[in-house]
Amino acid sequence: MSAPPIPSSPVRSVGITPPDSSLWTRLTTFASENKAVVYTIGAVVVVAGAGGIYYISQQSRESGKAGKAKKDRRKDIKDKASSKEKKVADENLSQPSEQEEAYPEVNEEIVQTLTPEQKKDYASKLKAAGNKAYGNKEFDLAIELYSKAILCRPDPIFYSNRSACYNSLSQWQKVVDDTSAAIALDPEYVKALNRRAHAYEQLENYSAALLDFTASCIIDGFRNEGAAQSVERLLKKVAEAKGKAMLAARPKKLPSCTFVSNYLQSFRQKNRPAGLEDTASLQEETGDYHLRAGLQAVERKSVDGYEEASEEFEKAMQLGTNFEAYALNWRGTFKYLRGDPMEALEDVSKSIQLDNTMTQSYIKRASMLLELGDREGASMDFTTALEKNSEDPDIYYHRAQLHFILGEFGEAAKDYQKSIDLDRDFIFSHIQLGVTQYKMGSIASSMATFRRCIKNFDKTPDVYNYYGELLLDQQKFQEAIEKFDTAVEMERTAKPMAMNVLPLINKALALFQWKQDFGEAEKLCERALIIDPDCDIAVATMAQLLLQQGRVQEALKYFEKAAQLSRTEGEIVNALSYAEATRTQLEVQEKYPQLANKLQGMGGMR
Ligand SMILES: *[C@@H]1O[C@H](CO)[C@@H](O)[C@H](O)[C@H]1NC(C)=O
Ligand SMILES: *[C@@H]1O[C@H](CO)[C@@H](O)[C@H](O)[C@H]1NC(C)=O
Ligand SMILES: *[C@@H]1O[C@H](CO)[C@@H](O)[C@H](O)[C@H]1NC(C)=O
Repeated sequence: MSAPPIPSSPVRSVGITPPDSSLWTRLTTFASENKAVVYTIGAVVVVAGAGGIYYISQQSRESGKAGKAKKDRRKDIKDKASSKEKKVADENLSQPSEQEEAYPEVNEEIVQTLTPEQKKDYASKLKAAGNKAYGNKEFDLAIELYSKAILCRPDPIFYSNRSACYNSLSQWQKVVDDTSAAIALDPEYVKALNRRAHAYEQLENYSAALLDFTASCIIDGFRNEGAAQSVERLLKKVAEAKGKAMLAARPKKLPSCTFVSNYLQSFRQKNRPAGLEDTASLQEETGDYHLRAGLQAVERKSVDGYEEASEEFEKAMQLGTNFEAYALNWRGTFKYLRGDPMEALEDVSKSIQLDNTMTQSYIKRASMLLELGDREGASMDFTTALEKNSEDPDIYYHRAQLHFILGEFGEAAKDYQKSIDLDRDFIFSHIQLGVTQYKMGSIASSMATFRRCIKNFDKTPDVYNYYGELLLDQQKFQEAIEKFDTAVEMERTAKPMAMNVLPLINKALALFQWKQDFGEAEKLCERALIIDPDCDIAVATMAQLLLQQGRVQEALKYFEKAAQLSRTEGEIVNALSYAEATRTQLEVQEKYPQLANKLQGMGGMR
């Protein structure tokens, strides 16, 4: 058995967010564990174990039939050709140098004078000559011969043959035209579909290519590895292109309340600077006043609070404040959360220039640099921060996060431990240490760490939530659900309107994996979405649950919404890959109703 996939969501939710973070890893794992594929077809073909086999055998029986019919037709032509007509036709053969492979002279006028039998005969001779020319790489000649064959008889094979020549000449639009003609005559002509898909890809029409490759996979019963790989490659291309456009077009929006709270609480709470206390008397409409209002709004830990805080910090900066470095740090933090790491970086760098004693600025800049792919820069900021204050547990905690994301678990464990040694009261160091031990394969120490956590932090819902995730990973469903329930109850009592919804979603996953209980799982996701409507994890989980049930149309909506809600480009692309896959499947079903029926039937056979 392969090593169990490790839930790494604590990384995502507690602190630095990796560029391609764990929500999607988890959902992908979730999907593959349930034998649904990343792309389309997953829901209807792969999930349906027995159905899939039925489908494939049905398919091969049919293609077998078709193949036989074609062979018969060819035999027919041969028989006829060897009959008396052959002699007559031979008289009109053009005479290439030798006696081998002569072919008839044909134009539109001549064709009109031919009998059906003669047309067939001419066509097959021309095609044979075309194949020969193609074999000799005389593509122009081959094109001419296939064209004449088509004049005699519009056979999908001749179009496909001619498209092969254009393909060799890299004349992609002509390949599209000919393969389209072939497909119009034979809608399930897999070879032509694959060739057209390839041409579309060359023409950079990726969604058209994706559609053709997907159709070809379904018609072919997934027997062609190459086509399946092409589907994945194109999904990525389409999703990347759409993701870039989406990112450029959409207003920068704060992520969900759950996300923001988790990010902010990954730093130890620090007292406000002297002069910004609740009791300090500040004149209205000054930068300092708005700065304090922003801090107060942050402390409300709610969606509205965060939106308001973000505006207040902006105002504070516009009006000018006596705490400029501090205000820049906060404005930068919110820009980062909005998914604008470049501007955030500017603010935080300026903050550091003004006041190089705030170690938090270095830590935050490190997470921004990491998101922009600059690992070295991130690493340097940690070093500088430690030079400023080697006893700051935050620095070790966040450097541990960096190691964790880079898969350097030994280093990560050391830093978490150091952070704990400096301050035992910060729960997330303990949680992350436990997850890291789990990742390193020390399951026993990991479980021990969590049991200790529960003893020392028995009022903290996060402990139960993440402990539950590790139990779920070990398929200890009952225990995992108990932990999630405890976490939900604690969250609900503590902050009913702004609760962290992760335990609800985890419970939904557990119920689905354990009992295939779609109904209950959906209800839990819906509950999470009422509390935190912008929670991308809840939306994406819902989409997966719907896809698993073959409710493709509904799943598509949720995948699209998940993309809208995703914060980083990596996450958007990931959500869009699912969305595109789902959409393509729907399009294939529309274009090929005969396949749609089969696929639908299989979906229901689960
Ligand atoms: C051969 O060609 C001549 C003229 O080119 C035409 O009259 C005759 O019908 C052709 N014979 C056949 C069998 O096609
Ligand atoms: C033409 O079509 C036939 C039948 O599909 C095939 O065997 C042959 O390889 C094709 N030739 C080319 C050049 O595509
Ligand atoms: C891609 O191909 C499809 C199908 O032929 C066509 O409808 C669409 O306009 C093409 N898109 C682009 C961008 O050329």
